[in-house]
Amino acid sequence: MEKLIVTGGTKLEGRIKVSGAKNAVLPIIAASLLAEGECHLQDIPQLADVDTITQVIKSIGVKVSTTGNKDLVLNAGELTSSEPPEEWVRKMRASFLVMGPLLARLGHARISMPGGCNIGSRPIDLHLKGLTALGADIQMSHGIIECSAKKLVGSRVYLDFPSVGATENIMMAASRAEGTTVIENAAEEPEIVDLANFINGMGGRVYGAGTNIIRIEGVPRLKGANHTVIPDRIEAGTYMIMAAAAGGDVLVENVISDHLKPAMAKLAETGVTIDEEDSGVRVRSRGRGDAIDVKTLPYPGFPTDMQAQMMAYLTTARGTSVVTETVFENRFMHVNELRRMGSNIVIEGHSAVVKGVSRLTGAPVKASDLRAGAALIIAGLVAEGKTEICSIHHIDRGYEDLVVKLTGIGVDIKRKVYPDEVEK
Ligand code: EPZ
Repeated sequence: MEKLIVTGGTKLEGRIKVSGAKNAVLPIIAASLLAEGECHLQDIPQLADVDTITQVIKSIGVKVSTTGNKDLVLNAGELTSSEPPEEWVRKMRASFLVMGPLLARLGHARISMPGGCNIGSRPIDLHLKGLTALGADIQMSHGIIECSAKKLVGSRVYLDFPSVGATENIMMAASRAEGTTVIENAAEEPEIVDLANFINGMGGRVYGAGTNIIRIEGVPRLKGANHTVIPDRIEAGTYMIMAAAAGGDVLVENVISDHLKPAMAKLAETGVTIDEEDSGVRVRSRGRGDAIDVKTLPYPGFPTDMQAQMMAYLTTARGTSVVTETVFENRFMHVNELRRMGSNIVIEGHSAVVKGVSRLTGAPVKASDLRAGAALIIAGLVAEGKTEICSIHHIDRGYEDLVVKLTGIGVDIKRKVYPDEVEK
Protein backbone atom coordinates (compact mmCIF):
# COMPACT_ATOMS: atom_id res chain seq x y z
CA MET A 1 0.00 0.00 0.00
CA GLU A 2 1.16 3.55 -0.69
CA LYS A 3 0.81 6.44 1.75
CA LEU A 4 1.55 10.15 1.79
CA ILE A 5 3.59 11.33 4.77
CA VAL A 6 3.16 15.04 5.55
CA THR A 7 5.24 16.77 8.20
CA GLY A 8 3.69 20.01 9.43
CA GLY A 9 5.17 23.32 10.42
CA THR A 10 6.82 24.67 7.26
CA LYS A 11 5.82 27.96 5.69
CA LEU A 12 5.16 27.80 1.93
CA GLU A 13 7.05 29.97 -0.55
CA GLY A 14 7.34 30.01 -4.34
CA ARG A 15 5.32 29.26 -7.46
CA ILE A 16 3.04 26.31 -8.19
CA LYS A 17 1.56 25.63 -11.67
CA VAL A 18 -1.98 24.39 -12.14
CA SER A 19 -2.73 21.66 -14.70
CA GLY A 20 -5.64 21.29 -17.13
CA ALA A 21 -9.05 20.84 -15.51
CA LYS A 22 -10.06 17.24 -14.75
CA ASN A 23 -13.76 18.15 -14.80
CA ALA A 24 -13.41 19.84 -18.19
CA VAL A 25 -11.29 17.19 -19.91
CA LEU A 26 -13.54 14.25 -18.93
CA PRO A 27 -16.68 15.52 -20.75
CA ILE A 28 -14.54 16.84 -23.62
CA ILE A 29 -12.99 13.39 -24.18
CA ALA A 30 -16.53 11.96 -24.15
CA ALA A 31 -17.62 14.63 -26.66
CA SER A 32 -14.88 13.55 -29.08
CA LEU A 33 -17.22 10.62 -29.88
CA LEU A 34 -19.49 13.11 -31.65
CA ALA A 35 -16.97 13.87 -34.40
CA GLU A 36 -16.27 11.80 -37.49
CA GLY A 37 -12.77 13.23 -37.53
CA GLU A 38 -9.61 13.75 -35.50
CA CYS A 39 -9.57 15.86 -32.33
CA HIS A 40 -6.33 17.18 -30.84
CA LEU A 41 -6.63 18.10 -27.15
CA GLN A 42 -3.90 20.07 -25.32
CA ASP A 43 -3.09 20.62 -21.62
CA ILE A 44 -4.35 17.17 -20.68
CA PRO A 45 -3.56 16.38 -17.02
CA GLN A 46 -1.95 12.98 -16.41
CA LEU A 47 -4.60 11.63 -14.02
CA ALA A 48 -6.10 8.24 -13.23
CA ASP A 49 -9.56 9.51 -14.21
CA VAL A 50 -8.29 10.61 -17.64
CA ASP A 51 -6.78 7.15 -18.16
CA THR A 52 -10.13 5.56 -17.25
CA ILE A 53 -12.26 7.54 -19.68
CA THR A 54 -9.61 7.06 -22.37
CA GLN A 55 -9.94 3.28 -21.85
CA VAL A 56 -13.72 3.62 -22.16
CA ILE A 57 -13.58 5.34 -25.55
CA LYS A 58 -10.80 3.02 -26.80
CA SER A 59 -12.99 0.03 -25.88
CA ILE A 60 -15.65 1.21 -28.36
CA GLY A 61 -13.27 1.89 -31.24
CA VAL A 62 -11.79 5.37 -30.79
CA LYS A 63 -8.16 5.59 -31.91
CA VAL A 64 -6.13 7.30 -29.17
CA SER A 65 -2.56 8.55 -29.41
CA THR A 66 -0.36 11.27 -27.94
CA THR A 67 2.65 13.26 -29.08
CA GLY A 68 3.94 12.96 -25.49
CA ASN A 69 3.42 16.62 -24.71
CA LYS A 70 0.40 16.46 -22.36
CA ASP A 71 -1.95 16.07 -25.31
CA LEU A 72 -4.35 13.50 -26.76
CA VAL A 73 -5.15 12.79 -30.42
CA LEU A 74 -8.55 11.10 -30.67
CA ASN A 75 -10.25 9.74 -33.79
CA ALA A 76 -13.81 8.46 -33.43
CA GLY A 77 -14.30 8.00 -37.16
CA GLU A 78 -14.96 4.24 -36.85
CA LEU A 79 -16.86 3.34 -33.66
CA THR A 80 -17.07 -0.45 -33.12
CA SER A 81 -19.54 -0.67 -30.24
CA SER A 82 -22.12 1.25 -28.24
CA GLU A 83 -21.56 -0.86 -25.11
CA PRO A 84 -18.49 0.16 -23.07
CA PRO A 85 -17.38 -2.61 -20.67
CA GLU A 86 -18.98 -2.45 -17.23
CA GLU A 87 -15.64 -2.50 -15.41
CA TRP A 88 -14.71 0.97 -16.69
CA VAL A 89 -18.08 2.62 -16.07
CA ARG A 90 -18.26 1.25 -12.54
CA LYS A 91 -14.75 2.55 -11.90
CA MET A 92 -15.60 6.17 -12.53
CA ARG A 93 -18.99 7.89 -12.56
CA ALA A 94 -17.96 10.36 -15.27
CA SER A 95 -17.76 7.44 -17.75
CA PHE A 96 -21.53 7.85 -17.93
CA LEU A 97 -20.90 10.98 -19.96
CA VAL A 98 -20.46 8.81 -23.07
CA MET A 99 -24.22 8.07 -22.98
CA GLY A 100 -25.27 11.30 -24.74
CA PRO A 101 -22.61 11.23 -27.47
CA LEU A 102 -23.21 7.51 -28.23
CA LEU A 103 -26.94 8.10 -28.52
CA ALA A 104 -26.33 11.03 -30.88
CA ARG A 105 -23.79 9.14 -32.97
CA LEU A 106 -25.10 5.54 -33.05
CA GLY A 107 -28.69 5.86 -31.82
CA HIS A 108 -27.92 3.35 -29.06
CA ALA A 109 -25.97 3.00 -25.82
CA ARG A 110 -25.84 0.21 -23.24
CA ILE A 111 -24.07 1.33 -20.08
CA SER A 112 -23.81 0.07 -16.53
CA MET A 113 -25.46 2.36 -14.02
CA PRO A 114 -22.70 4.42 -12.42
CA GLY A 115 -22.14 3.54 -8.78
CA GLY A 116 -22.70 6.06 -6.03
CA CYS A 117 -19.64 6.96 -4.06
CA ASN A 118 -18.61 8.25 -0.67
CA ILE A 119 -20.12 11.69 -1.16
CA GLY A 120 -23.64 10.62 -2.00
CA SER A 121 -26.06 8.45 -3.97
CA ARG A 122 -25.47 10.53 -7.10
CA PRO A 123 -28.53 9.48 -9.12
CA ILE A 124 -28.79 9.99 -12.88
CA ASP A 125 -32.51 10.75 -13.13
CA LEU A 126 -31.89 14.21 -14.62
CA HIS A 127 -29.60 12.75 -17.30
CA LEU A 128 -32.34 10.28 -18.26
CA LYS A 129 -35.08 12.94 -18.09
CA GLY A 130 -33.21 15.01 -20.66
CA LEU A 131 -32.36 12.14 -23.01
CA THR A 132 -35.96 10.94 -22.86
CA ALA A 133 -37.15 14.45 -23.77
CA LEU A 134 -34.93 14.23 -26.87
CA GLY A 135 -36.73 11.05 -27.91
CA ALA A 136 -34.64 8.28 -26.36
CA ASP A 137 -36.29 5.08 -25.19
CA ILE A 138 -34.68 4.05 -21.90
CA GLN A 139 -34.81 0.57 -20.36
CA MET A 140 -33.21 -0.26 -17.03
CA SER A 141 -32.60 -3.79 -15.78
CA HIS A 142 -29.92 -5.71 -13.88
CA GLY A 143 -28.01 -2.48 -13.25
CA ILE A 144 -27.70 -1.78 -16.95
CA ILE A 145 -29.23 1.19 -18.78
CA GLU A 146 -30.12 0.72 -22.44
CA CYS A 147 -30.87 3.87 -24.41
CA SER A 148 -32.05 3.87 -28.02
CA ALA A 149 -33.43 6.43 -30.44
CA LYS A 150 -34.03 6.20 -34.18
CA LYS A 151 -33.37 9.92 -34.16
CA LEU A 152 -33.04 12.61 -31.54
CA VAL A 153 -35.35 15.62 -31.80
CA GLY A 154 -34.69 18.92 -30.05
CA SER A 155 -36.83 19.68 -27.01
CA ARG A 156 -37.12 21.92 -23.95
CA VAL A 157 -35.70 20.36 -20.75
CA TYR A 158 -35.98 21.80 -17.24
CA LEU A 159 -33.38 20.49 -14.76
CA ASP A 160 -34.82 20.24 -11.25
CA PHE A 161 -31.24 20.72 -10.02
CA PRO A 162 -28.50 22.41 -12.11
CA SER A 163 -26.65 19.11 -12.50
CA VAL A 164 -23.24 19.47 -14.17
CA GLY A 165 -23.24 15.96 -15.66
CA ALA A 166 -26.86 16.08 -16.80
CA THR A 167 -26.27 19.45 -18.50
CA GLU A 168 -23.22 17.98 -20.27
CA ASN A 169 -24.90 14.74 -21.36
CA ILE A 170 -27.97 16.55 -22.72
CA MET A 171 -25.85 19.22 -24.44
CA MET A 172 -23.79 16.55 -26.21
CA ALA A 173 -26.84 14.55 -27.33
CA ALA A 174 -28.65 17.72 -28.47
CA SER A 175 -25.66 18.89 -30.52
CA ARG A 176 -26.57 16.35 -33.23
CA ALA A 177 -30.34 16.22 -32.72
CA GLU A 178 -32.86 17.48 -35.27
CA GLY A 179 -33.98 20.96 -34.27
CA THR A 180 -33.30 23.08 -31.23
CA THR A 181 -32.98 22.09 -27.58
CA VAL A 182 -33.27 24.49 -24.65
CA ILE A 183 -31.90 23.42 -21.26
CA GLU A 184 -33.46 25.45 -18.44
CA ASN A 185 -31.89 25.70 -14.98
CA ALA A 186 -28.68 24.45 -16.63
CA ALA A 187 -25.41 24.21 -14.68
CA GLU A 188 -23.24 27.31 -15.16
CA GLU A 189 -19.81 25.89 -14.25
CA PRO A 190 -16.77 26.99 -16.33
CA GLU A 191 -16.34 23.36 -17.40
CA ILE A 192 -19.74 23.57 -19.13
CA VAL A 193 -18.49 26.61 -21.08
CA ASP A 194 -15.29 24.77 -22.05
CA LEU A 195 -17.33 21.80 -23.32
CA ALA A 196 -19.61 24.14 -25.32
CA ASN A 197 -16.56 25.84 -26.85
CA PHE A 198 -15.18 22.44 -27.86
CA ILE A 199 -18.51 21.38 -29.44
CA ASN A 200 -18.73 24.70 -31.30
CA GLY A 201 -15.15 24.16 -32.48
CA MET A 202 -16.38 20.90 -34.03
CA GLY A 203 -19.06 22.86 -35.91
CA GLY A 204 -21.76 22.68 -33.25
CA ARG A 205 -24.18 25.47 -32.34
CA VAL A 206 -24.33 25.83 -28.55
CA TYR A 207 -25.39 29.21 -27.15
CA GLY A 208 -25.69 30.52 -23.59
CA ALA A 209 -23.25 28.15 -21.85
CA GLY A 210 -22.28 29.73 -18.53
CA THR A 211 -25.83 30.94 -17.96
CA ASN A 212 -28.82 28.93 -16.71
CA ILE A 213 -30.43 28.79 -20.17
CA ILE A 214 -28.49 26.92 -22.86
CA ARG A 215 -29.78 26.69 -26.44
CA ILE A 216 -28.42 24.03 -28.77
CA GLU A 217 -29.25 23.98 -32.49
CA GLY A 218 -28.62 20.43 -33.69
CA VAL A 219 -26.42 19.82 -36.73
CA PRO A 220 -26.24 16.61 -38.82
CA ARG A 221 -22.48 16.12 -38.50
CA LEU A 222 -19.56 17.33 -36.41
CA LYS A 223 -15.92 17.42 -37.49
CA GLY A 224 -12.70 17.00 -35.54
CA ALA A 225 -11.36 20.03 -33.65
CA ASN A 226 -8.33 21.24 -31.74
CA HIS A 227 -8.89 22.41 -28.16
CA THR A 228 -6.84 23.48 -25.15
CA VAL A 229 -8.51 22.57 -21.87
CA ILE A 230 -9.04 25.32 -19.25
CA PRO A 231 -6.95 25.28 -16.07
CA ASP A 232 -8.31 23.38 -13.06
CA ARG A 233 -10.01 25.89 -10.72
CA ILE A 234 -10.41 23.27 -7.98
CA GLU A 235 -6.72 22.35 -8.07
CA ALA A 236 -5.90 26.08 -7.98
CA GLY A 237 -8.25 26.69 -5.05
CA THR A 238 -6.76 23.73 -3.19
CA TYR A 239 -3.27 25.26 -3.43
CA MET A 240 -4.59 28.69 -2.38
CA ILE A 241 -6.14 27.14 0.73
CA MET A 242 -2.90 25.26 1.46
CA ALA A 243 -0.96 28.54 1.38
CA ALA A 244 -3.58 30.21 3.58
CA ALA A 245 -3.45 27.43 6.16
CA ALA A 246 0.33 26.88 6.32
CA GLY A 247 1.21 30.55 5.97
CA GLY A 248 3.74 32.04 3.56
CA ASP A 249 3.74 33.61 0.10
CA VAL A 250 2.70 31.47 -2.88
CA LEU A 251 1.98 32.37 -6.51
CA VAL A 252 -0.55 29.94 -8.04
CA GLU A 253 0.11 30.05 -11.78
CA ASN A 254 -1.91 29.13 -14.89
CA VAL A 255 -5.32 30.16 -13.57
CA ILE A 256 -8.39 31.98 -14.88
CA SER A 257 -8.99 34.24 -11.89
CA ASP A 258 -12.66 34.75 -12.84
CA HIS A 259 -13.20 31.06 -12.01
CA LEU A 260 -11.65 31.56 -8.57
CA LYS A 261 -13.80 34.45 -7.29
CA PRO A 262 -15.61 32.37 -4.60
CA ALA A 263 -12.34 30.97 -3.18
CA MET A 264 -10.61 34.36 -3.39
CA ALA A 265 -13.48 36.11 -1.61
CA LYS A 266 -13.85 33.59 1.21
CA LEU A 267 -10.10 33.32 1.83
CA ALA A 268 -9.84 37.12 1.96
CA GLU A 269 -12.58 37.09 4.62
CA THR A 270 -10.31 34.94 6.81
CA GLY A 271 -7.64 37.66 6.67
CA VAL A 272 -5.47 36.29 3.85
CA THR A 273 -4.00 38.71 1.27
CA ILE A 274 -5.01 37.70 -2.25
CA ASP A 275 -3.59 39.54 -5.29
CA GLU A 276 -4.35 38.91 -8.94
CA GLU A 277 -1.04 39.14 -10.84
CA ASP A 278 -0.27 38.71 -14.54
CA SER A 279 0.88 35.10 -14.21
CA GLY A 280 -1.51 33.96 -11.50
CA VAL A 281 -3.03 34.54 -8.08
CA ARG A 282 -0.70 35.40 -5.18
CA VAL A 283 -1.63 34.26 -1.67
CA ARG A 284 0.08 35.73 1.41
CA SER A 285 -0.85 34.47 4.82
CA ARG A 286 0.38 34.42 8.41
CA GLY A 287 -1.20 31.01 8.97
CA ARG A 288 -4.15 30.90 11.39
CA GLY A 289 -7.07 32.84 9.86
CA ASP A 290 -10.31 34.28 11.21
CA ALA A 291 -13.32 31.97 11.41
CA ILE A 292 -15.97 32.43 8.67
CA ASP A 293 -19.17 30.75 7.51
CA VAL A 294 -19.10 28.91 4.14
CA LYS A 295 -22.05 27.49 2.20
CA THR A 296 -21.51 25.42 -0.96
CA LEU A 297 -23.71 26.17 -3.95
CA PRO A 298 -23.70 25.45 -7.69
CA TYR A 299 -21.46 27.84 -9.64
CA PRO A 300 -20.95 30.78 -9.22
CA GLY A 301 -21.42 29.90 -5.53
CA PHE A 302 -18.65 28.46 -3.37
CA PRO A 303 -17.76 25.09 -4.95
CA THR A 304 -18.60 21.86 -3.13
CA ASP A 305 -15.26 20.53 -4.44
CA MET A 306 -13.45 22.99 -2.16
CA GLN A 307 -15.60 22.39 0.94
CA ALA A 308 -13.39 19.76 2.59
CA GLN A 309 -10.23 21.77 1.94
CA MET A 310 -11.76 24.96 3.40
CA MET A 311 -12.98 23.03 6.45
CA ALA A 312 -9.47 21.69 7.09
CA TYR A 313 -8.15 25.26 7.04
CA LEU A 314 -10.89 26.47 9.40
CA THR A 315 -10.12 23.79 12.02
CA THR A 316 -7.38 26.10 13.40
CA ALA A 317 -9.13 29.42 12.71
CA ARG A 318 -9.67 32.02 15.42
CA GLY A 319 -13.33 31.49 16.38
CA THR A 320 -16.14 29.18 15.27
CA SER A 321 -17.06 28.59 11.61
CA VAL A 322 -20.17 26.98 10.12
CA VAL A 323 -19.64 24.99 6.90
CA THR A 324 -22.87 24.09 5.07
CA GLU A 325 -22.95 21.55 2.22
CA THR A 326 -25.99 22.00 -0.02
CA VAL A 327 -24.91 20.10 -3.16
CA PHE A 328 -24.23 16.55 -1.90
CA GLU A 329 -25.99 14.78 0.93
CA ASN A 330 -22.98 13.08 2.43
CA ARG A 331 -19.87 15.12 1.86
CA PHE A 332 -18.58 15.21 5.44
CA MET A 333 -16.59 11.96 5.34
CA HIS A 334 -13.44 13.94 6.09
CA VAL A 335 -14.79 15.16 9.46
CA ASN A 336 -13.94 11.98 11.38
CA GLU A 337 -10.42 12.00 10.00
CA LEU A 338 -9.95 15.68 10.93
CA ARG A 339 -11.21 14.86 14.43
CA ARG A 340 -8.44 12.25 14.73
CA MET A 341 -6.00 15.15 14.31
CA GLY A 342 -7.54 17.12 17.19
CA SER A 343 -10.11 19.29 15.41
CA ASN A 344 -13.37 20.21 17.14
CA ILE A 345 -16.20 19.65 14.61
CA VAL A 346 -19.86 18.91 15.31
CA ILE A 347 -22.16 17.92 12.44
CA GLU A 348 -25.69 19.29 12.59
CA GLY A 349 -27.68 18.14 9.53
CA HIS A 350 -26.11 19.62 6.40
CA SER A 351 -23.82 21.87 8.46
CA ALA A 352 -20.58 21.31 10.32
CA VAL A 353 -19.81 23.60 13.28
CA VAL A 354 -16.01 23.98 13.34
CA LYS A 355 -14.65 25.39 16.60
CA GLY A 356 -11.11 26.62 15.89
CA VAL A 357 -8.40 24.93 17.98
CA SER A 358 -4.90 26.29 18.48
CA ARG A 359 -3.13 23.22 17.14
CA LEU A 360 -3.65 19.90 15.36
CA THR A 361 -1.46 16.84 15.84
CA GLY A 362 -0.34 14.51 13.07
CA ALA A 363 -2.07 11.11 12.93
CA PRO A 364 -2.68 8.13 10.61
CA VAL A 365 -5.74 9.10 8.51
CA LYS A 366 -7.60 7.79 5.48
CA ALA A 367 -8.75 9.62 2.35
CA SER A 368 -12.43 8.86 1.64
CA ASP A 369 -12.61 10.75 -1.65
CA LEU A 370 -10.53 13.00 -3.83
CA ARG A 371 -11.15 16.32 -2.09
CA ALA A 372 -11.20 14.81 1.41
CA GLY A 373 -7.70 13.54 0.64
CA ALA A 374 -6.60 17.05 -0.26
CA ALA A 375 -8.15 18.30 2.98
CA LEU A 376 -6.06 15.84 5.00
CA ILE A 377 -2.89 17.16 3.37
CA ILE A 378 -3.94 20.69 4.38
CA ALA A 379 -4.53 19.55 7.97
CA GLY A 380 -1.15 17.79 7.91
CA LEU A 381 0.54 21.05 6.89
CA VAL A 382 -0.54 22.75 10.14
CA ALA A 383 -0.34 19.70 12.45
CA GLU A 384 2.52 19.04 14.83
CA GLY A 385 4.46 15.98 13.71
CA LYS A 386 3.72 13.55 10.92
CA THR A 387 0.41 12.76 9.25
CA GLU A 388 0.19 9.45 7.37
CA ILE A 389 -2.53 9.43 4.70
CA CYS A 390 -3.66 6.11 3.19
CA SER A 391 -6.11 5.36 0.32
CA ILE A 392 -4.21 7.94 -1.69
CA HIS A 393 -5.49 6.48 -4.97
CA HIS A 394 -8.37 8.91 -4.45
CA ILE A 395 -5.94 11.83 -4.53
CA ASP A 396 -4.18 10.53 -7.65
CA ARG A 397 -7.51 10.82 -9.50
CA GLY A 398 -7.45 14.61 -9.46
CA TYR A 399 -4.05 16.07 -8.62
CA GLU A 400 -1.31 15.69 -11.21
CA ASP A 401 2.30 15.42 -9.92
CA LEU A 402 1.11 16.49 -6.47
CA VAL A 403 4.22 15.53 -4.44
CA VAL A 404 6.56 17.25 -6.92
CA LYS A 405 4.40 20.38 -7.08
CA LEU A 406 3.97 20.69 -3.28
CA THR A 407 7.64 19.97 -2.57
CA GLY A 408 8.40 22.87 -4.92
CA ILE A 409 6.71 25.35 -2.57
CA GLY A 410 8.29 23.93 0.60
CA VAL A 411 5.83 21.27 1.74
CA ASP A 412 7.49 18.37 3.58
CA ILE A 413 5.59 15.55 1.83
CA LYS A 414 6.75 12.08 0.78
CA ARG A 415 5.09 9.16 -0.97
CA LYS A 416 6.03 5.86 0.65
CA VAL A 417 5.24 2.24 -0.17
CA TYR A 418 4.33 -0.16 2.70
CA PRO A 419 4.61 -3.57 1.02
CA ASP A 420 3.31 -5.52 3.99
CA GLU A 421 0.22 -3.35 4.52
CA VAL A 422 -3.01 -3.74 2.53
CA GLU A 423 -5.92 -1.30 2.12
CA LYS A 424 -8.54 -1.97 4.80
C1 EPZ B 1 -19.57 17.06 -11.23
O1 EPZ B 1 -20.15 15.85 -10.79
C2 EPZ B 1 -18.11 16.98 -10.84
N1 EPZ B 1 -17.47 15.86 -11.52
C3 EPZ B 1 -17.98 16.83 -9.33
O2 EPZ B 1 -16.59 16.85 -9.02
C4 EPZ B 1 -18.66 18.02 -8.65
O3 EPZ B 1 -18.62 17.84 -7.26
C5 EPZ B 1 -20.12 18.12 -9.12
O4 EPZ B 1 -20.17 18.19 -10.56
C6 EPZ B 1 -20.82 19.35 -8.56
O5 EPZ B 1 -20.14 20.50 -8.93
C7 EPZ B 1 -17.15 15.99 -12.83
O6 EPZ B 1 -17.39 17.00 -13.45
C8 EPZ B 1 -16.49 14.79 -13.47
P1 EPZ B 1 -23.97 16.93 -10.38
P2 EPZ B 1 -21.68 15.48 -11.24
O7 EPZ B 1 -24.70 16.11 -11.38
O8 EPZ B 1 -21.92 15.94 -12.61
C9 EPZ B 1 -27.74 15.56 -7.89
C10 EPZ B 1 -14.60 16.14 -8.00
O9 EPZ B 1 -14.24 16.13 -6.81
N2 EPZ B 1 -28.17 14.91 -9.14
O10 EPZ B 1 -23.88 18.41 -10.57
O11 EPZ B 1 -21.89 14.05 -10.92
C11 EPZ B 1 -26.58 14.81 -7.26
O12 EPZ B 1 -27.06 13.74 -6.46
C12 EPZ B 1 -16.01 15.70 -8.38
O13 EPZ B 1 -13.89 16.54 -8.94
C13 EPZ B 1 -29.45 14.37 -9.21
O14 EPZ B 1 -30.21 14.42 -8.25
O15 EPZ B 1 -22.50 16.39 -10.20
C14 EPZ B 1 -25.89 15.86 -6.45
O16 EPZ B 1 -26.52 15.95 -5.18
C15 EPZ B 1 -16.78 15.19 -7.19
N3 EPZ B 1 -29.84 13.75 -10.36
C16 EPZ B 1 -26.12 17.14 -7.24
O17 EPZ B 1 -27.18 16.84 -8.17
C17 EPZ B 1 -29.01 13.69 -11.46
O18 EPZ B 1 -29.44 13.12 -12.50
C18 EPZ B 1 -24.92 17.61 -8.02
O19 EPZ B 1 -24.58 16.59 -8.92
C19 EPZ B 1 -27.72 14.23 -11.37
C20 EPZ B 1 -27.32 14.85 -10.21
